[in-house]
Amino acid sequence: MAEHLEIIEGSKAERYAALLPQIESVLEDEPDPIARMANMAAMLHETFRWWWTGFYRVIGDELVLGPFQGPLACTRIRRGRGVCGTAWDKDETQIVPDVDKFPGHIACSSASRSEIVVPVHDAQGHVIAVLDIDSAELATFDETDKEWLEKMVKILE
Ligand code: SME
Repeated sequence: MAEHLEIIEGSKAERYAALLPQIESVLEDEPDPIARMANMAAMLHETFRWWWTGFYRVIGDELVLGPFQGPLACTRIRRGRGVCGTAWDKDETQIVPDVDKFPGHIACSSASRSEIVVPVHDAQGHVIAVLDIDSAELATFDETDKEWLEKMVKILE
């Protein structure tokens, strides 16, 4: 397993394209889902330097905080609540250019201004977690992030 992330430069799509095989190679020999999520969060965060990058896992009828990089965060989110609970409930990636305009947004940190949340599935297609990424700037995430982050989380499926 590589011990260091290669420095990745270029456009957003180029950085995702270079990062994806590195993440695949780091995760390939590790079956534990928490360890896999932890290194995926670390490698995404180190590459893009967002405000907060991490996972919430579906446990019973709640999302529970999982591996992440960044400041401390809310630990439990109910289904349908906030951006994360909505991504889980609708089973659809949520792109939020301005969190103040998302009804019910859960502000774990007042520095967070925009957000993307991507559902993670098991082999049967059930949502088992969400990947939540927060930015301290408005409108950080777009269809390019959606496309690539949906490819990233497939590595976990
Ligand atoms: N803002 C999220 C909550 C999680 S934190 O941002 C890490 C939401 O509304 O679901």
